[in-house]
Amino acid sequence: MNIRKVIIPVAGWGTRSLPATKNIPKEMLPVYNKPAVQYVVEEAINSGINDVIFITNRDKSSIEDHFDYNLQLEAVLERAGKQEQLALIRQVAEMANCISIRQKKQLGLGHAVLCAKDVVRADDGFAVMVGDDLLFGMNPGIQQLINVAASERLPVIGVMEVPQERVNRYGIISGEEVSPGIYRVHKLVEKPKVNEAPSRLAIIGRYVLTPEIFGHLEKIQPGHGGEIQLTDALQCQADGKGLLAVKIRGMRFDTGDWAEYLTANIYFALQEEELRYDLIRHLKPLLPWD
Ligand code: G1P
Repeated sequence: MNIRKVIIPVAGWGTRSLPATKNIPKEMLPVYNKPAVQYVVEEAINSGINDVIFITNRDKSSIEDHFDYNLQLEAVLERAGKQEQLALIRQVAEMANCISIRQKKQLGLGHAVLCAKDVVRADDGFAVMVGDDLLFGMNPGIQQLINVAASERLPVIGVMEVPQERVNRYGIISGEEVSPGIYRVHKLVEKPKVNEAPSRLAIIGRYVLTPEIFGHLEKIQPGHGGEIQLTDALQCQADGKGLLAVKIRGMRFDTGDWAEYLTANIYFALQEEELRYDLIRHLKPLLPWD
């Protein structure tokens, strides 16, 4: 399975992050010095993907602009001799081929994926990455799924264990562990009640799918929250040709959760040698037990 394209749905309202997201797409909120969506695109690029398909709405053009040239700013930096910054912004413009598709009605994640049907249906497989989930580790998260999809020739979804009291925020799976950290999926439930979840294995926003998913998405009825749920289409896939889940290794931050968003900022800033000690010095007095 050769995965060259990724679908990144970015048409959501970002209501969890209001008022910050009143006029700024949630995907453009900075995590340290980059907008959150740039980390997701970099994860895709580092996994051999070239084409990024944004599923957008009318208020999200700043995402496309971010991955395009800004000639005016380039001229200003050039004149000021700021070569390093110039290289930095050009590199973002050149990192991927971007395709934008309007999701004209917000009918759910499944519907967003369906909007990209005509662009990916001729491929053997394609990736879907949810812009709220930032993953970091030795191997890019989506690469871990691509490796399994290529060897097993089946669609693969990424999962991570979450605490019992949080299962109602995710799609939850149950299945049989066929090799360490790899499951053949039996059941998927979108946002189950805390005491009704089949396990604590939550779907993280990383998927490697085949065009077969479109037939399922076209057939299913609206599910949880009245939306066309990708999770429900994946149940059809699991019942038919089969579906695997891979426990993703690495760290995950949900940028829609303020505690995790702020932690992600600190995590990235701490990676910077120049910033690390200053940051710790500023943070220490803020801790009540210091
Ligand atoms: C979506 C999926 C859900 C998954 C989650 C991961 O939910 O529907 O199955 O667990 O992404 O971030 P959303 O967060 O869009 O409500």
